Amino acid sequence: MTALDRLTVPYGVDVPDRIRKERYYDPDFYAMEAELLWPRVWQMACRLEEIPNARDCVEYQILDQSVIVLRDDDMGVRAFQNTCRHRGVRLLEGRGTCETGFTCPFHGWCYGIDGVNTFISRPGTFTEHNAQPGDVDLVPVRCETWGGCAWINLDAEAPPLRRCIEPFATIMDAWRLESMRAEWWYSFRIPANWKLAEEAFMEQYHVLETHPQLRIPGRYPPRNGAFDPQVFIESELHYLRTMNEGMAGMVHASDVALAEQQQDIELPADPALARSIWEEHLNDKVVEWHRGQGHVVPDLNELEASGMNEPMGYLFPHFFVLPMYSSASSYRFRPLGPEETLMEIWSLTRFAEGEEREQLPVPEPWSCDDPRVPPIPTQDFSNLPRQQKGLHGRGFEYMRLSEQIEGHISNYHRLIDGYLAGLPHDRLVDALPAINVNPLERGIVDIGL
Ligand code: FES
Ligand SMILES: [Fe+2]
Repeated sequence: MTALDRLTVPYGVDVPDRIRKERYYDPDFYAMEAELLWPRVWQMACRLEEIPNARDCVEYQILDQSVIVLRDDDMGVRAFQNTCRHRGVRLLEGRGTCETGFTCPFHGWCYGIDGVNTFISRPGTFTEHNAQPGDVDLVPVRCETWGGCAWINLDAEAPPLRRCIEPFATIMDAWRLESMRAEWWYSFRIPANWKLAEEAFMEQYHVLETHPQLRIPGRYPPRNGAFDPQVFIESELHYLRTMNEGMAGMVHASDVALAEQQQDIELPADPALARSIWEEHLNDKVVEWHRGQGHVVPDLNELEASGMNEPMGYLFPHFFVLPMYSSASSYRFRPLGPEETLMEIWSLTRFAEGEEREQLPVPEPWSCDDPRVPPIPTQDFSNLPRQQKGLHGRGFEYMRLSEQIEGHISNYHRLIDGYLAGLPHDRLVDALPAINVNPLERGIVDIGL
């Protein structure tokens, strides 16, 4: 970004490895995000299994905006602003099926599933300019599908979805993300700014301290000690079980069971070779088992060979996927206020095509210290309220980032500054590929703004 652009952004990131605290609570900064960031970006509006049948519809809310996302008769997906053109009543709350379109509960104006106004009660009482055909239709919202989800963008000028989601999309296509379905879906209210909440998941630096159960001896050989393949296998199994229990998924129970069946495999005494043989073998077993069940699953060893076996992908500004073997966790974040965030987690896995499944209920948000939250996110959440409060400390001015391993936090903040400076889409879209990546262990990079 040029110096001139920077001047227009309050609390902008002038020193890349320092993030000013006001960005996480200042009401004016939050208002700028609401005006200049959120209405211009592609957002994950729903998983497609929420609208499995023609005319199923779901409401997506972001800040004070509400969008109807709806499955049309050709099984395409389209979206409209959720506002009656008469006097502004929201037409849809939650989700449902709109067999005959939408009828406004106030004065009964009707809209077809194409958004076209089909009925005005006592139309002769309106002047012509207030009841013009076309002008009383629902306002369309940009909507596209990808990765098993519907995406919306409130900006008619925004580039198409695919231009805004690389290289994340290519990697997740290789993972066959679109063939995963949710096994469960939870949501949480976190008393912290949306960026602070996301940043708890953008680096690995916290793992040793925050998740001590993931410090598993034997997974990596001691420098001078002898390598024992059996100890290695046991520690790998322990790790997989701990991840499965900690996330209530992600490493799926069926993958853990497959790993347990492989524990008698002969491994060489060379640690690096032993690890790669173990990984390759387990990958093959997972793929073989899932394909035997009729699931679409990528060849995990091919993913590894092509450098796409990433444990996490971030999609600006609010979506994460964390694939592990057959399955994945997925996160979405939305601001509820300067210091409050709604976070959702979906636990995704493979299902056979056509397998009948009950639709998951829309989750009631839990407080982030609710005992039902799985153990690993509980640990992540435990820091966030304390961090949000700590930021207000008078002697604290800015976060100091490790430029080598917490760099993604700086990178995406500098992209946010690009939006807040009102840069045109063609400049922003060129910065996105540096951001839509695996954020873990990433350094500060030039994002071209
Ligand atoms: S506000 Fe919708 S019909 Fe009056
Ligand atoms: Fe964590």
